[in-house]
Amino acid sequence: MLGKLISRLKKEDYTITYDFSARETIRILFDKAIQILRGFVKVKIKASTKGLVFAAKGANVIFSGKVSFGRNLNMGRYSLINALSVNGVKIGDNFTIGDFSIIECTGVLRGVGEGLTIGNNVGINHHCFIGVRGEIVIGDNVIFGPRVTVLSENHNFNLTDVPIKEQGETRYKTVIEDDVWIGANVIIMPGVTIKSGSIVGSGAVVTKDTQKDSVVVGVPAKIVKKRNEKDN
Ligand SMILES: CC(C)(COP(=O)(O)OP(=O)(O)OC[C@H]1O[C@@H](n2cnc3c(N)ncnc32)[C@H](O)[C@@H]1OP(=O)(O)O)[C@@H](O)C(=O)NCCC(=O)NCCS
Repeated sequence: MLGKLISRLKKEDYTITYDFSARETIRILFDKAIQILRGFVKVKIKASTKGLVFAAKGANVIFSGKVSFGRNLNMGRYSLINALSVNGVKIGDNFTIGDFSIIECTGVLRGVGEGLTIGNNVGINHHCFIGVRGEIVIGDNVIFGPRVTVLSENHNFNLTDVPIKEQGETRYKTVIEDDVWIGANVIIMPGVTIKSGSIVGSGAVVTKDTQKDSVVVGVPAKIVKKRNEKDN
C-alpha cells in the first residue's frame, strides 16, 4: 500500500519489500499527515511549489520568495533553506533534505550569495551543509550521505598585517553533475566539479575535479578505480 502511494506521488516505480504491520503503516501515515500540514503552513503558502510538501518538526524555508521547488519536497527535522541570494534557488522534483541539514545562501549580509540550482531526484542526508557564496549547481539523481559539506568560497589571506576576516573572499562555482553519490563526511572544496557518474568515498576531501564515472577516496581525494572496474 505504501509502495503504491509513493509510486503515485513520485510518478515512478517505488518497490517496498518489507511487509509493514498495520501499526507501522498507521504510524508512518500519521507522521506524514502531520508533515503535510506543517509543510503547508511553513513552506507551501510562502514559496513556489508543486505537489506535496512534507516538513518535519523545526523545518523551515526563509526568504521563500527567492526559491522555487518542483513536485514533492521532503524536509527533515530542523532542516533549513535560507534562500537569500542574488539569483535565487531553483530546486527540481522529488527533493529531500535530511534532519539538521542546512542550505545557506547568505552568511553575512555584506556577502549575499550567488544562487543555487538543484535538479530532480536529489537526496541530501542528515547534518549536511551547502554553503552558497559562489554559485552552486547540483544535477539530477544525486545522493549525499550524512555530514557532507559543499563549499564555494575561500577567505583571502595574503596580507599578514590585516586580519583574515577583513581581507575579503574569493568565490568559485562548485558543480556536482548528474548521477553522483557522495559518501558520508565528504568535503567538496570551492570550485570543484564532480563529474557525472562519480562516486566519492566517505571521508574524502575533494580538491580537484573528478573524472566521469570514477571512484575517488581520501584526503586529498584521488581516483582508485573507474566504476565499471568494480566487480559487483
Ligand atoms: C568509495 C566506496 C564506494 C568504494 O567501495 P568499493 O568499490 O567496494 O571499493 P573497495 O572497498 O574495493 O576499495 C578500493 C580501495 O579504496 C580504498 N577505500 C575505499 N573506500 C575508502 C574511503 N572511503 N576512504 C579511503 N580509502 C577507501 C580501499 O581501502 C581500497 O584500497 P586498496 O585497493 O589499497 O585496498 C566505499 O568504500 C565508500 O566509501 N562508500 C561510502 C559509504 C557511505 O558513505 N555511505 C553513506 C550512505 S549514503
